Amino acid sequence: MTAKITIKKTFKGLLLGAAISASMTGVAQAAEVEVLHWWTSGGEAKALGTLRDSLQGQGIGWKDMPVAGGGGSSAMTVLRSRVMSGNAPTAVQMMGFDILDWGDQGVTANLNEVAKAGNWDAVVPAALKKFSKTNGQWNAAPVNVHSTNWVWGNKAVMDKVGIEIPANWDDFVSAMQKVKAAGLIPLAHGGQAWQDATIFDGVLMATGGIDFYRKALIDLDEQALTSKTMQQVFDRMRVLRGLVDDNFSGRDWNLASAMVMNEKAAFQMMGDWAKGEFLNAGKVPGKDFVCFRTPGTQGTVTFNADQFTMFKVDDDRHEAQMKMAAAILSPEFQIAFNTVKGSVPARTDISDEAFDACGKKAMADLKEAGANNTLVGSMAHGHASPAAVKNAFYDVITAHFNGDMSSQEAVKQLAASVKNAI
Ligand code: GAL
Repeated sequence: MTAKITIKKTFKGLLLGAAISASMTGVAQAAEVEVLHWWTSGGEAKALGTLRDSLQGQGIGWKDMPVAGGGGSSAMTVLRSRVMSGNAPTAVQMMGFDILDWGDQGVTANLNEVAKAGNWDAVVPAALKKFSKTNGQWNAAPVNVHSTNWVWGNKAVMDKVGIEIPANWDDFVSAMQKVKAAGLIPLAHGGQAWQDATIFDGVLMATGGIDFYRKALIDLDEQALTSKTMQQVFDRMRVLRGLVDDNFSGRDWNLASAMVMNEKAAFQMMGDWAKGEFLNAGKVPGKDFVCFRTPGTQGTVTFNADQFTMFKVDDDRHEAQMKMAAAILSPEFQIAFNTVKGSVPARTDISDEAFDACGKKAMADLKEAGANNTLVGSMAHGHASPAAVKNAFYDVITAHFNGDMSSQEAVKQLAASVKNAI
C-alpha cells in the first residue's frame, strides 16, 4: 500500500534548511527564473511566495513579472509580445488549451527528464496531463487544481437573514431575494468578462446538467447552443444581474470577495481562489464563511488547473528552470502552496490532512467526479475550448449580462459567434 504523503517536517523548516545549506556552501544566486503570472491579489501573492521562497532556498533568484487580471487574458497578451520579440520568460502561469497552443509552436522547453525523475506520469491526474504534454513532451508543470462551481457565503449574514445553505437553484435564488429584502447585497460580483463567464459555468451546469455542459461547452454542439435549455441559462443570468449591486461594473474579483468578508454581501460565485482571500484575511471556514457547490451542480466539478509552462531559455537559465519545475511538483510545495491558494494538489497521492474543511471537500469532490465521469474543464478558465472559442463565449455572455439583450437573442448570437471562432 502506498501511503499518502503528509508533511513530515514543516515546509518552513525545509526552506530554512535549504537556505542555510545554500549560504554555508557559498552558493551565490547566479541563476534566476523570470516568472510571468497574474497572481496579484493578497491570497494569490502569498501563495506564490511559497514558490519564490522555495527557489531562493536553492539559490535561485526570482524575477517577478506580474500582469494583473484574473483569468489571465492580459497576461497572455503580454506573453505573446514577449515571445514574438524573441524574449520569452522562463516560466509562465497558464491554463488548459493555451498550454497546448504554445506546445504546438515549438517554443516550449522539454521537461521530460524532470518529469521522469519525479514520476509525474504516475502522480499527475489524467485530466491535467492532457494539457501539460504535446506529442509526449511535458511542456508545463501543474501547480494546482481549482474549480469554478463554488459559492462563498458570509456566515453572519446568512444567520442574520435566516438562510441555510441552499440545496438547489430555486432555493439559492429565494435565499438571495431574502438578503435583498433585508437591505444587503445578495451577490458580490465584479463585472468583468471572465467573471461573468465564471458564473456562467455554474449556472449552465445547474440548469442543464453534465451532459448538456459537455454538449454545449466542450462539443460546441449547435443544437445545444441554440436550445431552450440554453435560453434558460441566460434567463438565470438575467436573474443574477438583478441581485448584484449598482457598482459591480469592472470590479476586481478580490474586492467582491472582500464584500462578502465585510458583511456587505451574502454570497460570491467564484472559483476557490476566493478561499485564498478569505484565509489571507484570517477568516475561518465554517465559522466566518461557508463554501458550497453552486446549488444544482453537486456531484460535478468544473475544474481549471494552473500550470507553469516553461519556455526555451538560454543555457544560463536552463538549470534553474528545471529546478523550478521539479520544485513545483514536490509534495511539500504542493501542500504549502495549495493550502494557501485555496486550490488542491495537482498530484493524486497527497493526504488531505493539512487542508481545511473546504479543501478536504474540494479534494473529495474531485476524486468522486473523476471516478463518476462528472469532471469537466471550466469554459471560463480555458479548459473547455481553445482561446478563440472561449472569447466568443465571453463576448456574448458579457454583452447579455451588461445590457438588455433577450435570452433568445443571446442564444442566437452565441451559436453564431462560436461557429465563427471554430
Ligand atoms: C484563475 C486562476 C486562479 C486565480 C484566478 C483569479 O484563472 O486559475 O489561480 O488566480 O484566475 O486571478
